[in-house]
Amino acid sequence: MPERSSLTIVLAAGEGTRMRSALPKVLHSVAGQSLLAHVLRAAPHGEGASLAVVVGPAHQAVAAEAKRARPDAQTFIQRERLGTAHAVLAAREAIARGADDLLIVFGDTPLISEHTLQQMRAPLKGGAAIAVLGFRAADPTGYGRLLLERDRLLAIREQADASADEKAITLCNAGVMAFDCAHALEILEKIGNANKKGEYYLPDAVGIARDMGLAAAVIETSEDEVRGINTKAQLAEAEAVMQARLRQAALEAGVTMVAPGTVYLAADTTFGKDVTIEPFVVIGPGVSIADGAVIHAFSHVVQASIGKNASVGPYARLRPGTSLGEGARIGNFVEAKAAVLEAGVKVNHLTYIGDTSIGANANVGAGTITCNYDGFSKHKTTIGAGAFVGSNSSLVAPVKIGEGAYIGSGSVITRDVPDNALAVERNSQTIRDGWASRYREAKTRDKKKT
Ligand code: UD1
Ligand code: CA
Repeated sequence: MPERSSLTIVLAAGEGTRMRSALPKVLHSVAGQSLLAHVLRAAPHGEGASLAVVVGPAHQAVAAEAKRARPDAQTFIQRERLGTAHAVLAAREAIARGADDLLIVFGDTPLISEHTLQQMRAPLKGGAAIAVLGFRAADPTGYGRLLLERDRLLAIREQADASADEKAITLCNAGVMAFDCAHALEILEKIGNANKKGEYYLPDAVGIARDMGLAAAVIETSEDEVRGINTKAQLAEAEAVMQARLRQAALEAGVTMVAPGTVYLAADTTFGKDVTIEPFVVIGPGVSIADGAVIHAFSHVVQASIGKNASVGPYARLRPGTSLGEGARIGNFVEAKAAVLEAGVKVNHLTYIGDTSIGANANVGAGTITCNYDGFSKHKTTIGAGAFVGSNSSLVAPVKIGEGAYIGSGSVITRDVPDNALAVERNSQTIRDGWASRYREAKTRDKKKT
């Protein structure tokens, strides 16, 4: 039998006022990735799986993030926020196009797993019209309560409309629902707004299905998986849960961490074999760490590729665009940005290398600075293979240091140095002719403008 097709609708039109932020709620991040991207990654992929995201009228940034995370996503705009069922119907056109299973997921529930979403589809295959994801809440306040008769789901009652007895129920609605698409539109269109808040509640679908003689099933999961994020405190809780998961996965993949609780990872960090990460390391998005590499304590790494047996830190900062070749070494108090270091390069102490490429086995001495910014724009430094840059040198970009060249310590290099040359320049040529006055004039002009 062919696999059942699916349509997943992600609701992301809420204002998120409780976050007290100018950023739309679903664009806040957990483990270096937006809440929305986490949810979109968990949604079914590939053939027979389509995806719709419902965004608010002024949320172009949310639509753009949806496209970035899942280029196959189609976005729909909910013009007025009249409730979750109303939001689903903003994507009516996608529902009408049809699929076997309709999955509805909230954009503010980033810990949801792909596995659970797949499990939600099983009862539909078995003939149920709706499957609801439930969980036992430590504190159910604010959640919709699942009303059961023995183990049959009768309805979902929102907090505002619940009686005292119903409020005592701890089995809650996680917000994820699966519908048999054949009945979905009929059910959704019957949902009204005769409730305390005057909103169209998606959970009312359960009672309606029952009145139509259709069955509704419950799939239970842990509270950690379905934590909804409405506040910054909940965002921090979700981060803690996600970090615990990522550390566990890294340990299982063979990464050595003596104090995993002090290491922060991103959802997309990749590891080779025999990687070691010492305590108090922060890894942001876009980092790959190859076999045998060591990240020493107190290092901060973002969008960087760390080659085999390379060594970073302690106290190093690798910024976006850094790439370390096999066995390359970045030592303490070194900052690298858009820097490509080939195999065996050593940059061991107190150095800034930005917009730089360094050939194999070059040695960059303590206190070297690539002066990549002249007050107007960024320029590139190239250091040839096998070159030696003496301590406390300034390489004023754009500049090329030839292969095997030797720069005397304390040099200020403003002109290209040929291959195998010896260059020692001190305090001469520190600033190119006329440059200081040009800079001063330009900045004075800028000041007058503001
Ligand atoms: C909702 C459920 C509740 C459940 C809880 C789980 C409803 C009515 N209630 O409550 O049963 O226990 O989630 O976390 O569904 N949204 C829109 N447009 C709207 C309203 C909401 O897109 O008009 C989106 C929000 O961006 C959010 C999601 O729907 O991603 C849920 O909305 P929210 O207001 O957070 O619902 P809860 O009150 O948490
Ligand atoms: Ca919510």
